Amino acid sequence: RSPESQQILEAHEWLTKLYHHLLKNSKDGKDAYQYLLDRGFTDELINRYQIGFSPRSRDFVVTFLEKKGFHPQTMVKAGLLNADNDGNYHDRFNGRVIFPLRNHLGKTVAFAGRSLGDQQPKYINSPETELFHKGKLLYNFDLARSAIRKQNSVVLFEGFADVISAYQSGVHNAVGTMGTSISTTQAKLLKRYADKAIICYDGDQAGINAAVKAAKLVRDVGLQTYVARLPEGQDPDDFIQENGADRFKREIIDASETYTSFMMSILRRDYNLNLEGDRIAYIEEVLKEVAKITGAIEKEYYLQELSKEFNISFNTLKEELDQISVQTQ
Ligand code: CTP
Ligand code: MN
Ligand code: MN
Ligand code: MN
Ligand code: MN
Repeated sequence: RSPESQQILEAHEWLTKLYHHLLKNSKDGKDAYQYLLDRGFTDELINRYQIGFSPRSRDFVVTFLEKKGFHPQTMVKAGLLNADNDGNYHDRFNGRVIFPLRNHLGKTVAFAGRSLGDQQPKYINSPETELFHKGKLLYNFDLARSAIRKQNSVVLFEGFADVISAYQSGVHNAVGTMGTSISTTQAKLLKRYADKAIICYDGDQAGINAAVKAAKLVRDVGLQTYVARLPEGQDPDDFIQENGADRFKREIIDASETYTSFMMSILRRDYNLNLEGDRIAYIEEVLKEVAKITGAIEKEYYLQELSKEFNISFNTLKEELDQISVQTQ
């Protein structure tokens, strides 16, 4: 590690503690603390995830870091301060709830600052640095790693709020992909710890699209892939706050569907199954997905389903499937 990276890590460690302290103890942090309680975040969660608050000040953090002996230029590079054109330094996250973003070793390498209400932008994140690449960080992997291994399964969420709420529901094997899909590198890493992945993204169009992408990618690294779906317009955190932990576990996580059945429902949206041409195109698309299934029983299961639903003989479907399998090899 370069000395500069070391400085950046140390600054993040100090600030994680400072922000957390200010959330819980400062007058300025009172409404941020209330905001979190109103959202259903308990003290236990606030402590476990070291959630904090950055004071409404242009130079509180500037002064703090200066006193600790950090070079302001390095702190700008780290994304902890902003510099203006006149060469003055300012706090970056002022007035926001702070979520420390930890790497796989549990070290804070970045922050996400959330506005307290509907004020835009909702999130201000740290910029990419030598230590933080948004597309590479799996939020909560450090804390979830042993549960992922023990349960031989991992649950993927879009947002850190979802990961944090899910912990309260007893879902401890959860990681967040930070609003982006998931990368192959991340998926391969998860495959080293578990055989099964459940994708639980937001119940909006963006979330469904991201889930399709993620599901394909996760399946392609050899994870048994399931998709848990949320009611329209809700994300996992919304669902938990509205309906409670038990219902989330039972109705969403435990009710997740297999990759193939999820893809079938996605494809169904694109075709009008009352039309002959669409029906055929749909069956062919589904067969392409079925061709990628490795388990013989699962493969046969979906062939039977198609056979029953569309009144096509099992053998014809099997013949077509074998042809697709040859083509894609
Ligand atoms: N995100 C981001 N910047 C944004 C919006 C989102 O970095 N302007 C990332 C965050 O990591 C966020 C994730 O994308 O957690 C999912 O986005 P979204 O669903 O909009 O946020 P929530 O996690 O649901 O946040 P909240 O519940 O606080 O509204
Ligand atoms: Mn990068
Ligand atoms: Mn979303
Ligand atoms: Mn969300
Ligand atoms: Mn949310």
